[in-house]
Amino acid sequence: MKPYVFITRRMPEETIADLTDRFEVKMWDHEDIPAPREVLLAEAKKASGMITMLSDKIDEELLSAGENLKVVANLAVGFDNVDLEAATKRGIVVTNTPDVLTETTADLTFALLMAAARRIVEAADYIKADKWKGWGPYLLAGNDVYGKTIGIVGMGKIGEAVARRAKGFGMDILYHNRSRKPEAEKEIGAIYSSFDDVVTKADFVVSLAPLTAETKNLFTAEVFAKMKKSSIFINVGRGPVVDEQALYEALKRGEIAAAGLDVFEKEPISAGHPLLELPTVTALPHIGSASTETRTTMIRLCSANVKVVLSGDTPKTVVNKEVLQ
Ligand code: DGY
Repeated sequence: MKPYVFITRRMPEETIADLTDRFEVKMWDHEDIPAPREVLLAEAKKASGMITMLSDKIDEELLSAGENLKVVANLAVGFDNVDLEAATKRGIVVTNTPDVLTETTADLTFALLMAAARRIVEAADYIKADKWKGWGPYLLAGNDVYGKTIGIVGMGKIGEAVARRAKGFGMDILYHNRSRKPEAEKEIGAIYSSFDDVVTKADFVVSLAPLTAETKNLFTAEVFAKMKKSSIFINVGRGPVVDEQALYEALKRGEIAAAGLDVFEKEPISAGHPLLELPTVTALPHIGSASTETRTTMIRLCSANVKVVLSGDTPKTVVNKEVLQ
């Protein structure tokens, strides 16, 4: 019998050709509606390999249901949805999709920063709603980006790629990260700073931090209160890094000027979410790496990782390297 692989979303057949060749493969029927928990549990029970999404909770219960499970290939660079310790304990290889999405996610981050600064979405909605009656000197006037200070919290590869874009806009670049990035300092001129310095000095505070025990609720009411009143907060990392209620209140009270958000505490959010009612918020549905090219490359990388593990070899992008020893 061929090993069974379950993919938790519908993918184009050609992107998973690597798998359909040699394994029995089943996909969840929908592209953007998650498989219910009971389906995930039942499929995990049968599967040797799974391709999972960042919205699937791959926890102890699911991993222990997976009696034959050898590999979980998560379609994201972030893997906070996977209980890594539980997977490692069971010898299950967990892989992610770093590098291939770096530039695409940096493009989106900068696009969101520009959209929030120059009120692009608001302006596009304005004209479509037939509100444009004439040119006005301050009509939909926003903030300059060029020459301002950007503060990047979470200087991984995506952070560095955002910093390179900021350099092209003549921005001063501050960053805060667990470790210093000497190459980024030398090549891009990024200045390592304390978290406090980044949030107090930057005109654009950009969070690209992964979700960990240390970064959960990093952006609190106190942090927003320290930011410049004219500052714009951008989050393309993970929602729970921010106290969303505190962000809402900071925007409402004018403690910060605007926010561009691609990620939220609990996704998906829907109409009626308080942040969506604020004109100063530009919100996107977690599309950081969503270019067709990059998503296709990410799916292919996941497929290759599953194939390699189930063939007894070492995959390219393992998160829990200890299981391979
Ligand atoms: C990731 O890969 O972790 C990103 O959030 C996708 O946009």
